[in-house]
Amino acid sequence: MTTIAHLTDLHLLEADHGRRRGAERWRLRYLSFGRPIDAEQRRRRALAALLEARQSGADHLVLTGDLTEDGTAPQFEVLAAVLAESGWPPARVTLAPGNHDVYAGGDAWERALCGPLRPFAATSGPGTTVALPGVVLAAVSTAILQPVTRSAGAIATRALAQVAQLAAETRRSGDALVLAQHHPPRCHPVGAWQWLDGLLNSAEQMALLQEHDHIHVLHGHTHREADTPVRAGAPARMFCAQALVDGHTPLRLYHVRHGRLLSERTRVRSGVSVFAAA
Ligand SMILES: [Fe+2]
Ligand SMILES: [Fe+2]
Repeated sequence: MTTIAHLTDLHLLEADHGRRRGAERWRLRYLSFGRPIDAEQRRRRALAALLEARQSGADHLVLTGDLTEDGTAPQFEVLAAVLAESGWPPARVTLAPGNHDVYAGGDAWERALCGPLRPFAATSGPGTTVALPGVVLAAVSTAILQPVTRSAGAIATRALAQVAQLAAETRRSGDALVLAQHHPPRCHPVGAWQWLDGLLNSAEQMALLQEHDHIHVLHGHTHREADTPVRAGAPARMFCAQALVDGHTPLRLYHVRHGRLLSERTRVRSGVSVFAAA
């Protein structure tokens, strides 16, 4: 049985962020508003959660975005270092970018995948997939270039077409399809909030989720753990983990069975395991 570990919203910082001046300093203060700007605490918290995920015995790890606070090169180096220290083999890790990961520049994520995150390009680059027993995982970028005052996302047309193709293929094979992405697929009920913070083409992705019951989404962005069904009363297929930067129990685990994900709803550190069909 394949087990997937899920962590999200690390918001890692560079150690010498105090040297920032001008616009970069202001950007960091704005983005970290209400949260301590403590690089070492965030790094320690990330490492502890990554080690806990390894100790869980999960086959694969998914990190669903806002991996850094504002997507600077030194922050991606911190991410690469903490992943290396955790001992997770890059072939067993899928990374997806969040809105925070491209505030420093629209190509920040692509440059990171060619730089410090190069070992993860084969599992996390555009169009890449990972096939495990009973499941296919795909990283889906929702990161778009925008000012720091906005936190929306969108999936590129080409990526949506790839998801549709993968959905058709996995439907035939009987595997679950798991999409690792930052923004939740569902539309905000308030239009202005959707424009400001939502997935702009949520309607297209929700249509795919409506059409294929074997598609599941692991996401972040809301910073709160949640299990959400595609249709009212149906089992949940969209799962969010608590933000690692805020939470003390951010790790979630899922098991793959008969083309579906089963979510573990228990705090792993409590030592109690309860599995729920999802
Ligand atoms: Fe976040
Ligand atoms: Fe976000």
